[in-house]
Amino acid sequence: MRGHSTAMAVAVLLLFSSHMATSNTESWREILGLQKEKVSHLHFYFHDVITGKNPTSIAVAGANTTLTSPTFFGLVNVVDNTLTKGPKPTSKLIGRGQGFFASSSQSEISFFMAINFVFMEGKFNGSTLTMVGRNPIMHKEREMTVVGGSGAFRLARGYAIAKTFVSDLRTKNAIVEYHITVIHF
Ligand SMILES: *[C@@H]1O[C@H](CO)[C@@H](O)[C@H](O)[C@H]1NC(C)=O
Ligand SMILES: *[C@@H]1O[C@H](CO)[C@@H](O)[C@H](O)[C@H]1NC(C)=O
Repeated sequence: MRGHSTAMAVAVLLLFSSHMATSNTESWREILGLQKEKVSHLHFYFHDVITGKNPTSIAVAGANTTLTSPTFFGLVNVVDNTLTKGPKPTSKLIGRGQGFFASSSQSEISFFMAINFVFMEGKFNGSTLTMVGRNPIMHKEREMTVVGGSGAFRLARGYAIAKTFVSDLRTKNAIVEYHITVIHF
């Protein structure tokens, strides 16, 4: 009886380890029918329009101390901003940046960003990338994380570099240049 159960345990172990051995990158790629990974670089301008005729970035929440806070701590904006090929608002529309950002530092102006980039033209039409990260907007360059995507960007990962192209203190509107490097299948 004892020998029998030991043999069973060994058989189970063997079965389990052979299963483990085939669960490598190659096989899950095959199971999901995916090609070899590639790197894509994306470049566009994100238009954060807070004031004017057609705002695409609107404040939806704040604390009673937000407006007296030097860093607008607690402010939450929901955005449906345009993404264009060039820096001008009239430049070719390539998609939209939809999501929200929240002021989340009490020592400098820095936003927690949660944005879905929705692409609307070319080979990435209909695909999305999801970016999450910390955006201290006064810094020349900010790095945020591409945590995933859909469509052509399914299982994507990467990073985004944001640089303010122009910002207007009076209107609060800003145009931000994005360079995204993404690994996807
Ligand atoms: C903000 O709200 C809290 C809680 O209601 C209150 O205690 C505090 O006095 C308020 N602060 C200001 C600046 O109004
Ligand atoms: C993007 O895809 C949508 C939906 O399939 C289509 O209606 C639209 O014409 C496409 N846009 C471009 C620029 O190819």
